[in-house]
Amino acid sequence: MKSVIRASIIFALLIFAMACSPESPQSTFGTHGPIAELQKNLFLFTFWIAVVVFIIVEGGIIYLTFKYRSKKNDKLPVQTHGNLKLEITWTIIPAIIVVIIAIPTVIAIWETQVMPNEEDSLVIEATGHQWWFEFEYPTEEIVTANELHLPEDKDVIVKITSQDVLHSFWIPKIAGKLDMVPNHENQLYIKADDPGLYYGQCAEFCGISHAMMRFRVIVHTEDDYQNWLNEMRTPPKKLVSGSDEDEGRKLFVGNCSMCHTYDSYKKGAFTKEIDSQYNRWEEWKKDKENSAIVSAPNLTHFGNRITLAAGIKENNFDNLVKWIENPDEIKIGTRMKNHASIYKDENQLSSEQIEQIAKYLLSLKPSNESSTSYNN
Ligand code: CUA
Repeated sequence: MKSVIRASIIFALLIFAMACSPESPQSTFGTHGPIAELQKNLFLFTFWIAVVVFIIVEGGIIYLTFKYRSKKNDKLPVQTHGNLKLEITWTIIPAIIVVIIAIPTVIAIWETQVMPNEEDSLVIEATGHQWWFEFEYPTEEIVTANELHLPEDKDVIVKITSQDVLHSFWIPKIAGKLDMVPNHENQLYIKADDPGLYYGQCAEFCGISHAMMRFRVIVHTEDDYQNWLNEMRTPPKKLVSGSDEDEGRKLFVGNCSMCHTYDSYKKGAFTKEIDSQYNRWEEWKKDKENSAIVSAPNLTHFGNRITLAAGIKENNFDNLVKWIENPDEIKIGTRMKNHASIYKDENQLSSEQIEQIAKYLLSLKPSNESSTSYNN
């Protein structure tokens, strides 16, 4: 029994140590932006004060317990209740500590809560859905899902909302979290220092697949970011008539395109997609059990995505086929499984048809695709 307890403690400590490693994908210690840095420093400042307080108080308790314990069992130690000097001392010391912690805390709140000027910033609208993230770039007129592209060293204002339940937007290495609330907009100021790939995670329990609601953040150099914007406005390569990809396109248009937009590279597509998403949401709200259309990730240039199912699986042919065959296997409770007609017995697709759709989706890449690597 003892060895089980000892092994459990060692295991728990190991997990704890691993979670704290700055290299862990969601560690708040490996910061890559000024806001995360500010928040980390504030945490460490408070943490070390707490450590000192802990050592003094616990050390005092242990020392005094041994020094003044009664040597005989029948005798009470000397009672010091009502010592005015002591009472005043241990009221004033914590008050001073609270003030010392409050000063940098208030400064940090001020620095992170006051939004930079919108004209000089990149504005992004992020919407939480069960269980994926929608990202809109209103000025650039671009819409995408689950993979957020940012330029380095740029002030970014993320306008945050939800279209169903409470979610929370969090990129641990870049900035602290903020709730995504239906019918309400919160604003989060973020900034990334270094190009690279970062992990995002929903941080508010939002239903059965809450833990499966992730996203990726791809931070580019300014040039690469401009390339990405251009690519998002470029149509994909033309498909060869009669090819698997082309057959997949027909199946996709017939079965999936009511909820998933795949052509937001077109001029004017942005406004259309915003309207469509709004209508999908309204339809779903009216009849949550049976609505034929529901909000779903925009799949424009899906072939360029690193992940699928909101950051859960690597985006490749095998995973995509598995995902289309049975989304519940990867993420239980998806609306796709509940609402799409292809999961009703009479409309089921054959394995060949599912593979054709997967090939089509993976072919969705801009025809001018540059050599930009998003997977650094
Ligand atoms: Cu969305 Cu948790």
